[in-house]
Amino acid sequence: MNKITLFHPYVPESAKRAVLRTLNTPWIGQGPQVAEFEKLWEKKISYSHKAVAVGSCTYALHLAYILAGIREGDEVVAPIFTFPSTNIPILYQRAKVVFADVKKDSLNIDPNDIARKITSKTKAIVVVHYGGVPCDMDEIQAIANKHFLPVIEDAAYATGLTYRDRKIGSISDFTCFSFQAVKLLTTATGGMLTIKDPRLVGRAKRLRWFGAQKSDSDDRWAKGITEVGYRYQMTDIAAAMGIAALKELDKTLKHYQELASTYEKNLTDISGVTYIGGIFLCVILTQNRDRIRHSLTKHSIESGLVDCRNDRFSIFGGRVNNCPNMDKIENKYLILPTHYFLNKKDVEFICQVIRKALK
Ligand SMILES: Cc1ncc(COP(=O)(O)O)c(C=O)c1O
Repeated sequence: MNKITLFHPYVPESAKRAVLRTLNTPWIGQGPQVAEFEKLWEKKISYSHKAVAVGSCTYALHLAYILAGIREGDEVVAPIFTFPSTNIPILYQRAKVVFADVKKDSLNIDPNDIARKITSKTKAIVVVHYGGVPCDMDEIQAIANKHFLPVIEDAAYATGLTYRDRKIGSISDFTCFSFQAVKLLTTATGGMLTIKDPRLVGRAKRLRWFGAQKSDSDDRWAKGITEVGYRYQMTDIAAAMGIAALKELDKTLKHYQELASTYEKNLTDISGVTYIGGIFLCVILTQNRDRIRHSLTKHSIESGLVDCRNDRFSIFGGRVNNCPNMDKIENKYLILPTHYFLNKKDVEFICQVIRKALK
């Protein structure tokens, strides 16, 4: 029996060819293809929001936090449930992470709890579209507007997705995408930051390259360095992969959407399982997590917890006692396999194993 893995990287053939072509050009570090990838991202994903390509989503998040003006002593209301790199760059800025609870029936941030956690020290709101289920952006934006706060979206799981007919990446002040190895669109490692205010783009590009403005002139340092920057740029090898994969994104997404709807169709009537969804991760809630996992393992099917409540990590200051929904579901969530090499039959089989496990 072939093992069904939780993840499996998908690199389209066109992306492999693009990498080989790039390796034979004078630019393999940041060069013309990075600029082309940004243009294509704006055309297909972020529209009037400007795109800045970087080496990872974590870098994109850090740049967004700097551009949002987050500094030492500030508070940032952020998701308790996410991959920790949503929240760690808040600590780079020496600000405090204030965890907002998940919603009762999902792993996404609860807008009502965001509103409760805002204080006079709050500098920004951060959200993550967990597993590819869009957050309640209109409610979140309304809260942000009321308090004059920027919204930063961690869209690591949400490349190509839409919220109420608007593309994620074209909605709030900053959106950060991940092209890490197993993401829906991968460049092995890479990320994209999209920015609403065009006046911030020059600074973002300087921050990604040591604080200097890259130029083709003789004196590449002519404009000097007035702010400490980082080495956060994307390579042309990654950009070449990204351009090719972005051209195929509709096809890739369609495949993931088919898997998600097959999960939904086959899981919703299993008593003891609540289907949460997700285009990128299939998230379920169940009281019988161990029983299900045991059965899946017996059938060579991987499942996993993938992420965890971030107050588990002492760097954030210890466990909080004001996220009751997280307390209720922390032992109930489970992630099922989703990737390009699975088909409908695999998903039906996975659901059948779960159904039998709960009989
Ligand atoms: C929700 C979330 N945010 C951020 C990241 C960080 O992405 P990267 O590895 O591109 O820095 C990940 C990575 O898996 C993630 O899952």
